Amino acid sequence: MKLIDKVILAGLLAVSATTVTAVTPVYLNDDAPIEERVSDALARMTDEEKVALLHAYGKFASSGVPRLGIPQLMMSDGPHGVRAEINWNDWKYAGWTCDSVTAFPALTALAATWNPELSALYGKSVGEEARYRGKDVLLGPGVNIYRTPLNGRNFEYMGEDPCLASVMVVPYIQELQKNGVAACVKHFALNNQEQWRGEIDVKVSDRALYEIYLPAFKAAVERGGAWSIMGAYNKYDGEHACHNHRLLVDILRGEWGFDGAVITDWGGAHDTDQAALNGLDIEMGSYTNGLTSESKFGYEDYFLADPYLKKLRDGSLPDSTLNAKAANVLRLIFRTSMNRHKPFGSLASPEHYAAAKAIGDEAIVLLKNNGVLPLDTTRNLNILVVGENATRNLNEGGGSSDLKVKDMFTPLASLSARFGNVKYAQGYISGRPRYGKEDLIPQSTLDSLRAEAVALAREADVVIYIGGLNKNGFQDCESTDRREYNLPWGQDRLITELAEANPNIIVANISGNAYAMPWIDSVPAVLQSWYLGTMTGESMADVITGKVNPSGHLPFSFPMKLDDLRAHAAGELSYPGVADAEGKNPRQEYIDDIFVGYRSLEKDSIKPLMPFGHGLSYTTFEFGRPSLSSSTLREGQTVTLALPISNTGRQAGAEVVQVYVADNHSSVPRPVKELKAFSKVYLEPGQTKIVHIDIDPSMLAYFDESTHSWKIEPGRFDLLIGSSSADVRASLPLEYR
Ligand code: BGC
Repeated sequence: MKLIDKVILAGLLAVSATTVTAVTPVYLNDDAPIEERVSDALARMTDEEKVALLHAYGKFASSGVPRLGIPQLMMSDGPHGVRAEINWNDWKYAGWTCDSVTAFPALTALAATWNPELSALYGKSVGEEARYRGKDVLLGPGVNIYRTPLNGRNFEYMGEDPCLASVMVVPYIQELQKNGVAACVKHFALNNQEQWRGEIDVKVSDRALYEIYLPAFKAAVERGGAWSIMGAYNKYDGEHACHNHRLLVDILRGEWGFDGAVITDWGGAHDTDQAALNGLDIEMGSYTNGLTSESKFGYEDYFLADPYLKKLRDGSLPDSTLNAKAANVLRLIFRTSMNRHKPFGSLASPEHYAAAKAIGDEAIVLLKNNGVLPLDTTRNLNILVVGENATRNLNEGGGSSDLKVKDMFTPLASLSARFGNVKYAQGYISGRPRYGKEDLIPQSTLDSLRAEAVALAREADVVIYIGGLNKNGFQDCESTDRREYNLPWGQDRLITELAEANPNIIVANISGNAYAMPWIDSVPAVLQSWYLGTMTGESMADVITGKVNPSGHLPFSFPMKLDDLRAHAAGELSYPGVADAEGKNPRQEYIDDIFVGYRSLEKDSIKPLMPFGHGLSYTTFEFGRPSLSSSTLREGQTVTLALPISNTGRQAGAEVVQVYVADNHSSVPRPVKELKAFSKVYLEPGQTKIVHIDIDPSMLAYFDESTHSWKIEPGRFDLLIGSSSADVRASLPLEYR
């Protein structure tokens, strides 16, 4: 027994039974204000107990205060479902038989729905699963901005636009947390690529930081009320993000008033002084190389464990840092593990499958259709399905978001259920999902799979191609970036030859990233699907057969080629960064500044392969003439945009009305236009609705570095209303005075 424990024990034994009263201590009283509970608990705790709150004591757990009956925090990845149990003290899966879950669509898919109500349903459903599995903190959602299509982790984030990501992240958090499960919004901040993620030092202008990279985190904190935030692995301005003074102290707590706990990414802490002074609260995953290897270090060796206690004792670090951190963690505990009002949750329920299906249905994006889609199930078509993703379990791999699913509807199974006897050819092979590694596929293997598929394509009425990327290393997978923009494993050649053999080909790719489409002109229809989880096949089959009318819109642009984006055109320093002669200390500069995604393409007048916001339907929509409640806007006011929109086709469907703001008279460079609001509208055939969208002055502002504040220059702005960034249907001038 440690000396301190002996002292406590002796004190307790000295208390006579008659002095023990039945009064509930304030910290245990749910009805007491949370800050009173925090102060009460703190006053009862020793320094050792406070320090114990601040670091892991298992791979996914941090300690409570056992003596006071304050429970530990149980954490889990996130963000697309609750990860299978991992051993307490190593990284192997524990092999439980009761931890199979619903896999929900990846966050890119959620963003592609452009439907905040589905984000609420997502948060509610995944929160119920987390609750049932006994988790207090779900490690997600992720809102890093899509800066390059090579980022291996884009599939876990919500696209390239700060407005879209901000609107979509808030309901997820709010509904998740109603279950007494904290969101841990990640990865704060600037973790926009996986290459060198642990050490790369990112340099970015304040303007790009505030306009592009921070808004979704800010919305998560201020509007979503997130109870925890995960620091990123990378550095920003020379300091690791997990203990970065500017990000965590100045911005997160200072500017946004965050009162939750900052948790490191696993292995993201590097220094006791910085961890103590720069706003970190809970250190996880240190000394394990982040993910794989164990070492001789124990949890007490963590930067925020014994080394911290030592410095507190010798006075080289102030006690105030300890109390502030312990208070932040206690607050998180009271909200989650010690919340007596939380529900019990549910797992892999029909309701959760239905939620996953509803999200998947609205996420799939119809990119091109010359009329071949939807396919008629009554026509007795001779259908050939080609592509590995038609049969693959795409919840496996990808890194920490890997999920063990209770059920999985593959596209081939779901299509077979609808069409009867469907033929299948694999077409290509990719190897196993392996973190940071890839299998080398011999060209001869690819050649013979291709030849087999092409021969079968000649005999089919329709070919449905289901390929894309997967969650193997160097694809859509954590820890590595993609090596190329084109589809891997010879798919471009395969699709081209299939289209030559049978022009009646539908390409329905699954990925979390954009890719080149050199075959686009020779295929009549292209669907973009995502990692849709358990119900992948069901959503895809329903869209292909027209039971579901597609209504997804792209949450990021597909450039024709990488160099069309300023992030790439600006050279190595911009992406992936440059290292020193020994290959160490990589650094990078976001030379593209605020010109990310469509902001970059439009500024340079480069036509994208598929524009941001694009998505077709099986029906047609007509935008009427928009009007504004006032043509002038002043500080503190809002004006309302009204737009009549009609379904002019024969099928019920949904359109996304997108409102972009253009400032053509600015004294600083501005994007050609920027998304500032949107609304998804459901319309029966022949139905017309009037969409109302409020426009407030913040939508006109840019971040002025010289005054460190948002600035609106009086004068004329234009509101551009459209169905994608490249399909603007109407515009209205708006005067700001
Ligand atoms: C990832 C995090 C994840 C954590 C725990 C890290 O490597 O970057 O997103 O939550 O591991 O698995």
